[in-house]
Amino acid sequence: MKTVHTIEDVRSIVRSARAEGATIGFVPTMGYLHRGHTSLVEASRKLSGFQVMSIFVNRIQFNDPKDFSNYPRDLERDLSIARDAGVDLVFVPGDDEMYSDRRTFVDVELLTEHLCGAHRPGHFRGVFTVVSKLFNIVLPDVAVFGQKDIQQAVSLEKMVTDLNFPLKIVIAPTVREEDGLAMSSRNKHLDPGERRRALCIHRSLRRAEEMIASGERSSGTILEEVKKALSAGSPDKIDYASLVRYSDLQPADEISIKSVLAVAAFFGSTRLIDNMIIDEREGKLTCVY
Ligand code: PAJ
Repeated sequence: MKTVHTIEDVRSIVRSARAEGATIGFVPTMGYLHRGHTSLVEASRKLSGFQVMSIFVNRIQFNDPKDFSNYPRDLERDLSIARDAGVDLVFVPGDDEMYSDRRTFVDVELLTEHLCGAHRPGHFRGVFTVVSKLFNIVLPDVAVFGQKDIQQAVSLEKMVTDLNFPLKIVIAPTVREEDGLAMSSRNKHLDPGERRRALCIHRSLRRAEEMIASGERSSGTILEEVKKALSAGSPDKIDYASLVRYSDLQPADEISIKSVLAVAAFFGSTRLIDNMIIDEREGKLTCVY
């Protein structure tokens, strides 16, 4: 595995891999890697021959500067995890390499109006800008993102279509701890009490799944129960519990095919998110989370 810090080095190594006939798979990350991240590399490996990962804590997507400075970092550990996951090239740019005198932003309208978009001003614009830059640097054939950050993944699909990026976006399933908590670099900040309370997020999704299985289709009724299940775990704040259409991430009164139920809540100062996709499979509504 090669580790490089400059755009020029990425371009030259990717060019060589391509000249040898490999297709390029790409997994952008902010590091502090866990099995959620490595599952994306596995998915990418099934679809492409040369695996690139970026590790860059992207300052411009943090609406809260404290969140940026507290974001966990451990490059040594990350490089060893990436190597074990079969990554061929890791790109670890410094701030200056990515952002010297930047005046351009990329944004996606409509899909960012609700969910995290409504609660983290400027966040998605920072994500789309850095991911556009990374796509132009790496020039991948396939880029894999996690369902865990569903609004990010769906909006990036739209960005790639709208801006004609010549690559395919793949959305891979959420990887969870054994007790159901979605893996996240931020879980490290949870103290044991918060970690226990945070399980209500997964329980709230299970509750929604039960209701949908028993025929409930009204968003209002389902979300009321989801909020009750969340409150039972005493989160410090519920940011949102919403049901939206998958296609444009706009609120839906009734579940239709395909929808997303997404939740965000604080435990202490740590904000956790999770979601499920509701879709039809073999004639039946199925919840994937
Ligand atoms: P980060 O939070 O490091 O996540 C990198 C990728 O891993 C994202 O696609 C995210 O959805 C995925 N991921 C995180 N936890 C996961 C889990 N438990 N299961 C499956 N996939 C998971 O998302 C970002 O970084 C940044 O916004 C980025 C896209 C790198 C732009 O800066």
